[in-house]
Amino acid sequence: MSRILHKQPRSPEGSLTSVHILRSDPLSGKSPALQTYQVALSEAVTALELLRIIYEQIDPTLAFRNQECNQGICGVCRIKMTIDAGSQQADARAGKACRSIIQPGTTVSMQPVDMNKVIRDLVSLF
Ligand code: FES
Repeated sequence: MSRILHKQPRSPEGSLTSVHILRSDPLSGKSPALQTYQVALSEAVTALELLRIIYEQIDPTLAFRNQECNQGICGVCRIKMTIDAGSQQADARAGKACRSIIQPGTTVSMQPVDMNKVIRDLVSLF
């Protein structure tokens, strides 16, 4: 897997949050690849908000489900995540991106819920 680093300027009050996203496009025939983004956050955001920041400020090619309830009801934002706060590391779990809180300075890994049903990047069939 290749890794590509995107950096944003560090804000005076923000901590860099590392976001590793498994990118894939089954129609291209290429193997899935991990892409890393560095995002300066000054406050906690949801994983869905973090994806929106990446999409709007760093990489408009990132695919994820963005136009849904944003209230933890519909469930279409579900992805697998690992949220690592320093030395505490957890296994990847499926969760709702709109309800998962990401603290500044955290390392986050994201992948689709089911790699066998990926349409592109974090978007998969239900
Ligand atoms: S956007 Fe509906 S549950 Fe997350």
